[in-house]
Amino acid sequence: MEAAFPMIYFLLFLSTLLLYHVPKKQKGKDIQKAKLPPGTMGWPYIGETLRMYSEDPNVFFANKQKRYGDIFKTRILGCPCVMVASPEGARFVLVTNAHLFKPTYPKSKERMIGPSALFFHQGNYHSRLRKMVQNSLSPEALRNLVQHIEALAICSLESWATKEQVINTFHEMKKLSFEVGILAIFGQLDTKRKEELMENYCIVNKGYNSFPTNLPGTAYYKATKARRKLYEIISEIICERKEKKTVEKDLLGRLLNFKDEKGHTLMEDQIADNIIGVLFAAQDTTATALTWILKYLHDEHKILQAVKVEQIAIYECNEEGKKPLTWIQTRNMPFTHRVILESLRMSSIISFTFREAVTDVFYDGYLIPKGWKVMPLFRNIHHNPDFFADPWDFDPSRFDAAPKPNTYMPFGNGAHACPGNELAKLLMLILIHHLVTNYRWEVIGSQGVIQYSPFPVPQHGLPARFWKENKIN
Ligand code: HEM
Repeated sequence: MEAAFPMIYFLLFLSTLLLYHVPKKQKGKDIQKAKLPPGTMGWPYIGETLRMYSEDPNVFFANKQKRYGDIFKTRILGCPCVMVASPEGARFVLVTNAHLFKPTYPKSKERMIGPSALFFHQGNYHSRLRKMVQNSLSPEALRNLVQHIEALAICSLESWATKEQVINTFHEMKKLSFEVGILAIFGQLDTKRKEELMENYCIVNKGYNSFPTNLPGTAYYKATKARRKLYEIISEIICERKEKKTVEKDLLGRLLNFKDEKGHTLMEDQIADNIIGVLFAAQDTTATALTWILKYLHDEHKILQAVKVEQIAIYECNEEGKKPLTWIQTRNMPFTHRVILESLRMSSIISFTFREAVTDVFYDGYLIPKGWKVMPLFRNIHHNPDFFADPWDFDPSRFDAAPKPNTYMPFGNGAHACPGNELAKLLMLILIHHLVTNYRWEVIGSQGVIQYSPFPVPQHGLPARFWKENKIN
């Protein structure tokens, strides 16, 4: 029996060698045969950037897919890119072969948010941090936030209605989403601190989307200064938290208690980068989605009526809104939930995401060369009639059945999928409840055009007037 061990080791060693060797050889042969995906690269360096922006990025990608199919190449902002517009392709890049594609952002943007923010990372650091962020935004954690989110939603609606003037819906939704983000990160924070954070965050946000030059007076320069101020404010809050010695379960509390596998805690700048990162990921996305929901509900009268029926039943259960919404009630709004899913599909506010091939990758007979950007096109998939019949019709009932696998990805997919999706949906449900049971609103002006800021938003941020009216119909 003992004599068998060296033999077993030898066989294991041999099979490992073979396993390692054979696919490598095959891969080499395949790559030699493989060609680049179809498509045009445009001008040297700028590639097809000008065409993409002059045409509207979504139209540009849709036309390319029509012409070349589900995988095609182009060059944008100096980078050779491969676009992937099939569910299988998106899954290959984001899930099954995610290790071959790293997240990639321009360095100027990475500096602005903070290089330690989780979405710039892969591997151990990323997965540990992500788990913690996910826990702080899990249904168990969100349960305790319902009453606070409700208070913020009511306060926003009241202020829009009492102003009795036209508001920029997108701007107002940004304020509300920011407050909810602050709540999830810091718990209750005093008004002065919130205002300081908001003021500096807005400057950083503007700079993030501007041309990165450090010339005094430019938006980027101002943003760099505001980023330093944000760090100071977060440091002060951390200091106070440490003095209090309380163990909070909000994101800050969890970041302060974080330990890696060697027992090392996070440095203050790592904590700040992740807080700013989460604020970034949370605010414009949620605000954009909320703005679209208001537009769709405004335009789709029958759907608004059906949402009202569902919400009024809950309102009546709560003694005409005298009792607060409960967590269980927010989990039992099936039609409103489908309206949210359909709004996210229709608007597809994150049209695509970016990765970079860390090695030559072979997919579907094509070569994706090392260093090329790879972009799974969520919007193209969401608007493909093969997966969503009559994709331009707003039809929440299409979600009566679950969509086909990997065809519905408003929150991404795989290791970097959105950990904030439940929080975003909870805010939407709560806001819709109070909106349709207590208020009316009208959209001002025609709203055919989409603007990019940077996500697609209805023209002029959907100007609207709100007023209080808690009568049915
Ligand atoms: C409607 C609202 C939202 C949408 C549509 C959205 C969408 C997304 C998408 C598509 C990704 C994946 C990006 C990629 O793979 O490159 C993502 C990642 C992320 N989102 Fe969201 N998001 C929303 C709200 C939120 C909220 C409210 C939070 C936090 C409070 C949040 C935090 C994050 C974080 C931290 C990541 C990075 C995850 C990682 O890299 O592991 N998001 N989001």
